[in-house]
Amino acid sequence: MAKKIRRIGLLTAGGDCPGLNAVIRAVTKAAAGVHGMQVIGIEDGFAGLIHGKFRELTAQNVSGLIQTGGTILGTSNRDNPFKYPVTNDRGELEFRDVFDQVRANYDKAHLEALVAVGGDGTMAMTAEMIKRGIPCVGVPKTIDNDLAATDVTFGFDTVPCVGVPKTIDNDLAATDVTFGFDTALTVATEALDRLHTTASSHHRVMIMETMGRYAGWIALYAGVAGGGDIILLPELPFRLDRVCQKVLERNSRGKRFSIVVVAEGARPEGGEMVVRKVIKESTDSLRLGGIGQQLADQVEERTGIECRVTVLGHLQRGGSPTAFDRILGTRFGVKAAELAAAGDFGKMAALKGLRVEAVTIAEAAGGLRRVEPDNEVVRAARALGTAFGD
Ligand code: F6P
Repeated sequence: MAKKIRRIGLLTAGGDCPGLNAVIRAVTKAAAGVHGMQVIGIEDGFAGLIHGKFRELTAQNVSGLIQTGGTILGTSNRDNPFKYPVTNDRGELEFRDVFDQVRANYDKAHLEALVAVGGDGTMAMTAEMIKRGIPCVGVPKTIDNDLAATDVTFGFDTVPCVGVPKTIDNDLAATDVTFGFDTALTVATEALDRLHTTASSHHRVMIMETMGRYAGWIALYAGVAGGGDIILLPELPFRLDRVCQKVLERNSRGKRFSIVVVAEGARPEGGEMVVRKVIKESTDSLRLGGIGQQLADQVEERTGIECRVTVLGHLQRGGSPTAFDRILGTRFGVKAAELAAAGDFGKMAALKGLRVEAVTIAEAAGGLRRVEPDNEVVRAARALGTAFGD
């Protein structure tokens, strides 16, 4: 029989998003209250594992967190244990594998399993942790994990991990929705509602740039919810002449303003995404941003209509989660505690339709989930006359 898991580590990694505290609260309360497990919080994502920064989480100290934004554990999107940025003696940046340090701290804290809350980068790191062959204290070889469909297998010599999908970008494979997305979408929709009235008063083209990296989910859903006239996505390269044509056509119909929602990863046909910053220490080093201003300059020059740009940025990630994200985070957290208690490692809680299920972390780490060009929401928007610039 599998050994009972008594002590689990919990970390939140990657960019923060609303609902992380709801997950921390749910994992801790369910782990302690239902499964009799102790939860050790790991600070600042994988950085805490590398540097041994731990603190105990209890039902008492996670109480009252459900409506709060951010993560009480802290997070980091640049501390990859397999590619850890270090400045060498010559003052140059180099990347080292510091997994031995992770393993030593994990053992020192007497952890028996890890719950990782994160996006695609975190799931890829978690999948790599699982693959590493260092003996794992307290996890018997006999644990029977049915991972036949994946290349991730468990045994005596691995770190047992469970994942929870988090990201405002909603781009994680193997789950229909990630928590955090609904809040980002709500913030973006509210912003569009506000831009609409001022756009109409001043007869301007209002361009709103959203986050989302290489996936256009936030732009697409906010664009539809906020009645955007033109929606530009990374998945559907646009043509400037088509964008201008739509603006002018609306003008000629007496609609003297237009609302454009552009995802930060959108790019013109044959062109490149606009990179705002390169952060060498970060696993995914590109920070996108700037396409909104570029577009505004071009549309204004071609149409003669005044354009203004709003870049929503981190407003989409901060603040209180929506009711949907609080509930999804709670359900994911309870599922993660259940998987850890059952010794069902290498799995991630996922939303499939209306149900929370377990999928393999390998599946989740296996590539981004992007908007398909014939996505049903894209088709619905087109049916109402929304342009995608393609
Ligand atoms: O992945 C979440 C996200 O907010 C992306 O939408 C955005 O491109 C990126 O993180 C911004 O990262 P940072 O917080 O490092 O600027």
